[in-house]
Amino acid sequence: PTLITPKANESSYITKMKASGRNIVVFYGSQTGTAEEFAGRLAKEAARYGMKALVADPEECEMEELAKLSEINNSMAVFCMATYGEGDPTDNAQAFYEWLQSGDTELSGVNFAVFGLGNKTYEHFNSMGKYVDKRLEELGATRVVEAGVGDDDGNMEEDFLTWKDKFWPSVLDFFGMEMNLQEISMRQYRLVIPDVIPEKLFTGEIARLRAYQNQRPPFDAKNPFLAPVIAWRELHKGGERSCMHIELDISNSKLRYDAGDHVAVYPVNDPALVNRFGELLSVDLDTPISLVNIDEDSSKKHPFPCPCTYRTALSYYLDITSNPRTHVLKELAEHTTDPEDKEKLLKMTSSNPEGKELYQQWVLQDNRSLLHILEDLPSCKPPLDLVCELLTRLQSRYYSISSSSKVHPESVHITAVLLKYTTPTGRVNNGVATTWLSAKKPVSEQPSPQVPIFIRKSQFRLPVRPQTPIVMIGPGTGVAPFRGFVQERLKMKQEGKPVGDTVLFFGCRNRAEDFLYEEEFQESIDTGLLTLHTAFSREQDKKVYVTHLLKEHGEYIWRILGQENGHIYVCGDARNMARDVHDIIIEICSNYGQMSASEAQAFVKKLETQRRYSADVWS
Ligand code: 2AM
Repeated sequence: PTLITPKANESSYITKMKASGRNIVVFYGSQTGTAEEFAGRLAKEAARYGMKALVADPEECEMEELAKLSEINNSMAVFCMATYGEGDPTDNAQAFYEWLQSGDTELSGVNFAVFGLGNKTYEHFNSMGKYVDKRLEELGATRVVEAGVGDDDGNMEEDFLTWKDKFWPSVLDFFGMEMNLQEISMRQYRLVIPDVIPEKLFTGEIARLRAYQNQRPPFDAKNPFLAPVIAWRELHKGGERSCMHIELDISNSKLRYDAGDHVAVYPVNDPALVNRFGELLSVDLDTPISLVNIDEDSSKKHPFPCPCTYRTALSYYLDITSNPRTHVLKELAEHTTDPEDKEKLLKMTSSNPEGKELYQQWVLQDNRSLLHILEDLPSCKPPLDLVCELLTRLQSRYYSISSSSKVHPESVHITAVLLKYTTPTGRVNNGVATTWLSAKKPVSEQPSPQVPIFIRKSQFRLPVRPQTPIVMIGPGTGVAPFRGFVQERLKMKQEGKPVGDTVLFFGCRNRAEDFLYEEEFQESIDTGLLTLHTAFSREQDKKVYVTHLLKEHGEYIWRILGQENGHIYVCGDARNMARDVHDIIIEICSNYGQMSASEAQAFVKKLETQRRYSADVWS
C-alpha cells in the first residue's frame, strides 16, 4: 500500500473550513485539557449563533496557513491558550510559539480573539495568552474583542463565562450579524454499540490496544510503563494522617531520570464511585460502547480510547470527581424532570450575578462532583453516554521523584500524603491517585502490584559542580526532591569528591509524627554532609515555620547567595509557603547585601534567570 503523509493531508484547516462552510477556527494550547475543553465549548456555541467552527490543535496544523484565513468571508481565529510552568507554552503550542516569535508573516485581514488560561499563584501569570494577543496584532491581524484572562487560582469557569458574555456580541457586531439565538442542544459524539470480540475492547490503555499486556519501549505519556511496586512503607510515625514512601522498579523499562525530575502516574477511579453511576442511572456498566465524533473533519475521533465498556471509561479515562463546569449543568437540566431542580441547574448556568453566586456556592464551595449532583437531584437522569461525553479526561498525576538516579538507577521513589477530607455536604472525598496508590502494597509470594508511569524532565537540577553550596527549603512532602539531592551529594562525598555546603530547611507538625526520612537525614548529618534546620509547627503555642528559620539564618543565606555563588531551591506549597519564602529571600538580600527593596528584587530575579533560584511548587 502507498503511504500518504497524514500531516500534509490533515493539516489544511483552511481547506477543511472552506469545504465544510466554516468561518471560525478555534485553536487550543492545552496541557491538561481545560483549554481544549473551552475551545470545544466555543465551537459548539458558534452553531447557536448561526456560525460554524472547527476546533484545531496547533501541533497538527501548518500555522503559516493562518494568513489564508482572510480568504474566507466573515472568518476569525480564536485562541484558547494556557500558560504552563514558568511562563512556558504548553507542549502542543511550542512550535506555534516559536513560529510567532521568529516569523514575520503578514496577517492583515485575519481576525482573532484570545482567551488565556493561567494561575495567579505563579509569577508569569497568563504570559502565553498575553503574548499571542500582542503578537498577532503586531503581525497585522485584527482583534475582534479584548483578550480574556482566566485564573485557575480564583474561578476559571466564571472568568470564561464573563469573557464569553462579551465575546459573542462582539463577534456578531463585528460581522454585522443579528443576535438570533438558536436553542439547539447538540451532541459532539454519537453512541455506537460496537459488535466486537472482547479482545478488541480497550481496558484502560492510554493509546495502543493491549499496550499493558505487550509492553514495548520507548515509554512516554502515550505509552506508559507498568512499573512494579517493589517497596511501600508508611513514613508517619503517629497521628491520623498517612504519608507513603513507594519504590517503583524501572529496571526493564529503559527509562532514565535525574534527581529533580517528576514521575507521572495514571491512577484509576474508586470502583465504589464507578458503580454508583450504574446504580443511579440504571445502566449495565459492562456494556461495550464507542463514542464517535459527529464532526468528521475533527482529528479527534473519540473522546477516549474506544471501544470500551462504560466501566472502563469511568474507571480509567474520565475525571468523575472534579466539580462540573456550567455547560455540563445546562445539559443535565435537559434531563431533569423535577421543575425546581431543573430551574436550579439552569440558574447556575446563567450569567447573572445570582446564577454565578449559586454555582460558586452549590458546586464549588460545597464541592459537588457530578455524582453528588445526581445524588442530590434524584430526578436528574441523563443518559450515561452523554455523561461520558461531558466529563473531562482523567489526568496523570505528577510527583517530584524522591530518589537519586546515581544511587538508585533502577527505581524511582515517590513520597506522597494520602489525601482525604470531608466536604461541606458531609461526604468524604478521597484523593484519586493517592488513595489508589495506598492499596498498592506488595505482598510476598505474590506478583508485584503495577503502576502505569512515565517520566517528565524538569529544570530543577543540582548544580553542575558539587562544590557549589546549596540551600534547600522543603517543608512537608516538599522535601521529596531534596531526599534525591542529598542522596546524590552524599554519594559524591563518599567517592571523595569535594562537596560544598548542603543545607536543608525542613518543616512539619511534630517531630514524633511527620518528620519524614528522619533516620536517613541523620546519617547524612553524621557523615558531615548535611546541615539540617527543622521547624516543628505544632510543638508549641506559636507556629514555627521554615520561613522563621530562614530569617534567623539570614546572614548565612546571604553569604551563600551573594558571595559564594550558591544555589537555592524551594519545593512544596505554592500558595503560601513558596511565596513567603520568596519574600523573605528578597528581604535577606536587601538587609545583608545592602540593597534597596527594588535592587534586592532585581537580584533575586537574576538568580532565577541564572537558575540559581529554582522552585518546584504546586497548588
Ligand atoms: P501547619 O500545618 O502547622 O500550619 C508542612 O506542611 C509544614 O509546613 C507544616 O508544619 C505546616 O504548618 C507548615 N506551613 C504551613 N504554612 C506555611 C508557610 N506559609 N510557610 C512555611 N511553612 C508553612
